[in-house]
Amino acid sequence: MTARIDRLWPDPAENLTDDELVADLGPGLRINFVSSIDGAATHEGRSGGLSGAADKRHFELLRRVCDLVMVGAGTVRDEGYGPMRVSAASERWRVERGMPGHPVFAIVSGHLDLDEGSRIFTEAPVRPIVVSTAGASGDRFSQVADVIEADLPAALEQLRARGLTRILCEGGPSLFGSLLAADAVDELCLTVSPSLEAGDAPRISHGDVLSARGMRLAHVLRSGDTLLLRYVR
Ligand SMILES: NC(=O)c1ccc[n+]([C@@H]2O[C@H](COP(=O)([O-])OP(=O)(O)OC[C@H]3O[C@@H](n4cnc5c(N)ncnc54)[C@H](OP(=O)(O)O)[C@@H]3O)[C@@H](O)[C@H]2O)c1
Repeated sequence: MTARIDRLWPDPAENLTDDELVADLGPGLRINFVSSIDGAATHEGRSGGLSGAADKRHFELLRRVCDLVMVGAGTVRDEGYGPMRVSAASERWRVERGMPGHPVFAIVSGHLDLDEGSRIFTEAPVRPIVVSTAGASGDRFSQVADVIEADLPAALEQLRARGLTRILCEGGPSLFGSLLAADAVDELCLTVSPSLEAGDAPRISHGDVLSARGMRLAHVLRSGDTLLLRYVR
């Protein structure tokens, strides 16, 4: 059964439809994370332990409306990402609106510690992109992916020049920190999962540079004890 999601603010509304949930999501670079109440970005090393039915529904809807899903190599490895495929319902929704059936998958890596024979590449419905920002040669990926060798701001420029303007970044914390340092983040969708974790889990962003900035609250959604917040710059 689909998790019920209500809007608390602004304009309270009950049991939002998928289309109502994506109605305000325009172009730009959107980050999506789930966190415990006390700020843990992982439960036993992965985000899945924090994610419930509402977060999973919302996660899929954010993919539904984007041109490109960007993920750091650490998250690809830790979370065991496969090929970037949206659900059948999302694929239909996209095709009906003239979009490609699936978003492009872009993996950001410095060391290119990725297997070019992995299903991410061999079973990709759309040719993925490897963004290699440390000058490491991405030649061995050229059969299975487009390779962009550039720092993050230049890579984002190149992606936008390809018409990929609705960018969803699913983490992880290092990539989020790098994007903040590059002042590239337009908005954050944050699911607050109703648990307290303590321990030594990472926060949702970290980096060498302090990149403090204020954000504006755009909406508050609720599903049971879970909050889904959207902040924009
Ligand atoms: N709570 C959530 O919603 C959520 C979401 C995503 C991830 N996570 C969790 O976060 C943890 C992983 O954290 P993480 O910080 O390692 O993830 P990450 O940011 O996905 O991966 C870090 C790696 O990504 C590459 N990278 C990131 N920024 C880069 C840049 N500016 N230039 C070049 N390469 C860059 C590097 O890859 P190379 O090592 O290949 O050089 C770096 O080692 C996992 O436990 C995962 O489950 C949680």
